[in-house]
Amino acid sequence: ETFREVAKSEISVLEEINSLDDDNRFACVRMLDWFDHDGHMCIVFERLGLSTFEFLQQNHFLPFSVDQIRHMAFQIFRAVCFLHRNKLTHTDLKPENILLVCSDYDLEFNDSTNRKQRKLRSLDVKVVDFGTATFDHEHHESLVSTRHYRAPEVILDLGWNQSCDVWSLGCVLMEFYLGRTLFPTHNSHEHLAMMEKVLGPIPSHLLKQTRKQQYVHNGRLNWEDQSPSNEHVRKHCKPLKVNCTQISQSAAAERLFHLLSCMLEYDVCKRITMEEALWHPFFSPMRNQKQQRS
Ligand SMILES: *[C@@H]1O[C@H](CO)[C@@H](O)[C@H](O)[C@H]1NC(C)=O
Ligand SMILES: *[C@@H]1O[C@H](CO)[C@@H](O)[C@H](O)[C@H]1NC(C)=O
Repeated sequence: ETFREVAKSEISVLEEINSLDDDNRFACVRMLDWFDHDGHMCIVFERLGLSTFEFLQQNHFLPFSVDQIRHMAFQIFRAVCFLHRNKLTHTDLKPENILLVCSDYDLEFNDSTNRKQRKLRSLDVKVVDFGTATFDHEHHESLVSTRHYRAPEVILDLGWNQSCDVWSLGCVLMEFYLGRTLFPTHNSHEHLAMMEKVLGPIPSHLLKQTRKQQYVHNGRLNWEDQSPSNEHVRKHCKPLKVNCTQISQSAAAERLFHLLSCMLEYDVCKRITMEEALWHPFFSPMRNQKQQRS
């Protein structure tokens, strides 16, 4: 019954967003048909390729290049911005829900790993899975998103809106850049500690407001830096600033990291919106290309 309800909700969201985008300008999956088979809701979609997660997995978790990330991110951001303008929040953005339109690839030999690696022929992508997409006027479930991509305001139960998608996409782009998940954890408390390791302390006014006082001690995150349980956090998480200055030599990578730091902002009032993100300098090459074409 639950799956049936989710499917029905997905169908009505898809009907609405597909009809608002007659010309197929935004990268949201197209629904072709739907039917009820013996009480099971079935949805017919356009045919797409592998998810970006499956592609990374099958390619030994070799990260995407900054240029590849820009190309995919521009389409994803435009699609999600379109949802936001129409009073929707996706709530479950993750690499599994970003599908390649066509996952055909060429094999290239990598001299440093002595291995063949896949290079995609096309970086066109589409956003899928509108089963938990929520309209502004609808009830907002207190717990949304898949763990690794869950925004701090959701974990702290402070209420959420469109900006939780911005956080999730920040985690997704970071995963494309690293080839692995930014916050490898299955526990909310440890998740918050990982955020602090990567992004610095959680602002005290957010910790004051949360009903989840078990995570708080003396106005700060209740977490022992020196404890053995912090070993995992120390091992897997590096400050974003360190990542940025050590790895990035190119101006493009610096711009990507600047954009990511605006998306992974704890305070929703300060977090960049999807619309603003599309105007970030990281995307200048995409905008110039579009102007030339038109
Ligand atoms: C070859 O593999 C290494 C290690 O995975 C990676 O850092 C590098 O970017 C790859 N080279 C090319 C040309 O993709
Ligand atoms: C989301 O909520 C925050 C805090 O109330 C607000 O500043 C922001 O404008 C809201 N965003 C949207 C897209 O409604």
